[in-house]
Amino acid sequence: MAHIIVVGNEKGGAGKSTVSMHVATALARMGHMVGTLDLDLRQKTLGRYVDNRNAFLAEKGINLPTPAYHDLPEIDQSTLKPGENIYDHRLSAAVAELEPDNDFILIDCPGSHTRLSQVAHSLADTLITPLNDSFIDFDLLAHVDADGEKIKRPSVYSEMVWQARQLRAQAGLEPIDWIVVRNRMGAQNMVNKKKMEAAIETLSRRIGFRTAPGFNERVIFRELFPRGLTLLDLKDIGVKGLNMSNVAARQELRDLIKSLDLPNVTVDF
Ligand SMILES: Nc1ncnc2c1ncn2[C@@H]1O[C@H](COP(=O)(O)OP(=O)(O)O)[C@@H](O)[C@H]1O
Ligand SMILES: [Mg+2]
Repeated sequence: MAHIIVVGNEKGGAGKSTVSMHVATALARMGHMVGTLDLDLRQKTLGRYVDNRNAFLAEKGINLPTPAYHDLPEIDQSTLKPGENIYDHRLSAAVAELEPDNDFILIDCPGSHTRLSQVAHSLADTLITPLNDSFIDFDLLAHVDADGEKIKRPSVYSEMVWQARQLRAQAGLEPIDWIVVRNRMGAQNMVNKKKMEAAIETLSRRIGFRTAPGFNERVIFRELFPRGLTLLDLKDIGVKGLNMSNVAARQELRDLIKSLDLPNVTVDF
């Protein structure tokens, strides 16, 4: 059975697609079979990212491990029974197709609440939630008091994950390993950073997630997408003498993959 990794957060711009591509490519580079799905059917950022990679590598005549990307299959509405949801069927058909041949299925979710995203969360063995260092983003996980110090109550996204956990428990599945990853951290504003850290720490104990180190804010992430590259590919395309920032970013990716603690994965880059 493939291990299902879902990357979700109802907030756009948190870094879901960036994290998705980096995790999927890192796993492919370590020799695992990885199939990916993109549930943002309109933007398809992850699908575009993989397309860009295949086009760039073909043009340069370079062969690099690449995660496979699959569109959700179309399903004929008339084959559904009354009350059956077409999105549920498209997702389960996609997962069923990928399951036998892959070690991992990575599912990138849209930055909004959709039926597809909700169902995907209940399929997650591992759930990665990238989170920007801002209380506006934190608000989807939990509401805090005016000082950002006391947690008042869990919020919409946490409630959705809670429901997904209930569904899995009812179906007798293993609990979701939920990991919140702080992304796009900057050196500025130490006060906010410390407050966020404390709030995430408190919330993690209350609603049950782990935290993992994410990426600092780095220009390189915005430059990789058009060529479909990740931090791990730079040497292979002939970038000589990686600068300090790229070396540090690689280390961040290594630490992230390690802390995901995925089955049969030994981090070797
Ligand atoms: N650590 C980072 N540093 C700088 N830019 C980042 C970082 N992570 C993501 N970005 C940029 O932020 C934007 C949103 O990222 P994306 O992965 O598309 O988020 P999401 O999928 O959650 O909407 C993109 O332009 C991406 O290149
Ligand atoms: Mg995205």
